[in-house]
Amino acid sequence: MNSTLNKELRKDFPIFSASENEGLVYFDSAATSQRPQCVIDAVSDFYKKNNANPLRGLYDLSQRATDDYENARATVAKFINAKQSEEIIFTRNATESLNLIAYTYGMQNVNEGDEIVISIMEHHSNILPWQMVCNAKKAKLVWLECDKNTGIIPESEYSKINSKTKIVAITYVSNVLGTTNPVKQIAEIAHKNNAIIVVDGAQGVPHRKVDVQEIDADFLVFSGHKLLAPMGIGAVYGKLKLLENMPPFLRGGEMIEYVTRDSATFAEVPHKFEAGTVNPSGAVGLKAACEYINKIGFDFIKETEESLTKMLFEGMKNIPHIHLIGNPDYRMHSGIVTFTIDDVHPHDIASLLDSEKIAIRAGHHCAQPLGSYLNVPATARASLYFYNTEDEVQIFLDKISKIRNWAGYKD
Ligand code: ALA
Repeated sequence: MNSTLNKELRKDFPIFSASENEGLVYFDSAATSQRPQCVIDAVSDFYKKNNANPLRGLYDLSQRATDDYENARATVAKFINAKQSEEIIFTRNATESLNLIAYTYGMQNVNEGDEIVISIMEHHSNILPWQMVCNAKKAKLVWLECDKNTGIIPESEYSKINSKTKIVAITYVSNVLGTTNPVKQIAEIAHKNNAIIVVDGAQGVPHRKVDVQEIDADFLVFSGHKLLAPMGIGAVYGKLKLLENMPPFLRGGEMIEYVTRDSATFAEVPHKFEAGTVNPSGAVGLKAACEYINKIGFDFIKETEESLTKMLFEGMKNIPHIHLIGNPDYRMHSGIVTFTIDDVHPHDIASLLDSEKIAIRAGHHCAQPLGSYLNVPATARASLYFYNTEDEVQIFLDKISKIRNWAGYKD
């Protein structure tokens, strides 16, 4: 890994040099990433220079706000190789994006007796909306299960996708196991069965080049905040034909064409799906984040994450009483290392590490069906991004090896 560049880029993130955070080891980027100065500046510049309500005002300032907002849409479209900007709908986050698809496409196209296929490693955000559709429509929710030792869904499970399937909703990368699912292959199987595929890209888009045309996703969702962008901005990518045929999600300001006392007609895609005042500062922040990532490149991100994950994973493997969850090969983890320690509750692991200024996440990680399936209802999770360093991994390994002692055990 290029340690010089790694250390240089870390300086772009003001949180690490804030006096409040001296000595902080931030290993919770799967929950939310940190933001580089250019993203913070983009948000601040919007408010300083171009703030007005976009898409409404007939004056120059509002036009500039509109331009900022729509340019951000074009950048995001290019970032994931959508055919056109109209295929990007801005939302608050991946959760809202998945609900949008479920309440519109799902409620419109799923009927009694149909099936929706999801996987056992889904985040609650990619479970609950589909439970809602299945309950409302008397459809069946079908689960693809993974191998408990490798965290990989065996190909034999894919036969659950069949002529009854209307939607396959699957995560690109698991937020607990770090497993990457072969979404292109799953899309092919879904399409052969006349089903559509919804890809939850929340943990995928920040870490790899995602090309929606190459994987042939019908929908793909992600959050900005895991991708260096502000909180409160996310996106749905959808194939234009599908979006055009879907009813609106939320109804209200600026998503209409014409309103009478009794009815309304709706604006064109994507504005049909963006009711109310939109989030242009979030959108420009997301644009700046995409540009920053384009500049440093996914090759650098992948190489750095892999190298840090290797050091972390191999180091933890050798510490007695630590159990790593998921695939035994560090390359299958996408920077996510989930673990338990004998006799120490994951919440206690997180608290003990916090007292050493190390931030990790502990609990069910919003994936309770996976925890039950693997018989580990709670785990601790360290998650890395390219701004973490080898020094931080070394500190983490040193502290984690002492946790059982700190918890009162002799070995
Ligand atoms: N979904 C986020 C996580 O995995 C919040 O931590």
